[in-house]
Amino acid sequence: MKKLVAGPLLLIIALFIIPGCYNDNEYDLYPFSAGCDSSSVTYAQTIAPIMESSCNKCHSTIVASGNVVTDSYDGLSIVAKNGKLWGGVNAEPGFVPMPNEGSKLSSCDLGKIKKWINAGSPNN
Ligand code: HEC
Repeated sequence: MKKLVAGPLLLIIALFIIPGCYNDNEYDLYPFSAGCDSSSVTYAQTIAPIMESSCNKCHSTIVASGNVVTDSYDGLSIVAKNGKLWGGVNAEPGFVPMPNEGSKLSSCDLGKIKKWINAGSPNN
């Protein structure tokens, strides 16, 4: 009798655990939340303002923490192309989560950054 109960019980437990794992990658699967306007993502109009409000105080040409500069296209495109920008803002394993003080960027901002990186991080 015990064996008959254990099978379905494990299945039920697994059903609760598995969706939890998928959530780790929610920005890859569902980059844009409702009400998030991601129609026209450009460096100048979209990405630079996000960097200005959340990153530049620690990553400017003057104060370049970790040798990373986010207040210029040249600086930001380096980490956009080598994977460190996404690794940091999405707190991927092996990367220092960014911003390293305060809270993670909104899923809307993360989606826009992802879209810009996927487009080849153009200077537009
Ligand atoms: C409060 C200061 C601070 C803020 C705000 C901040 N950073 Fe950082 N960042 C650091 C420091 C310090 C390091 C070096 C960390 C280390 O090497 O341990 C760093 C490192 C990095 C790195 C290199 C990570 C690596 O694994 O090599 C990237 C990329 C980065 N930051 C991007 C960003 C972005 C993008 C933002 C805005 C979303 C941001 N940072 C906001 C302080 C900050």
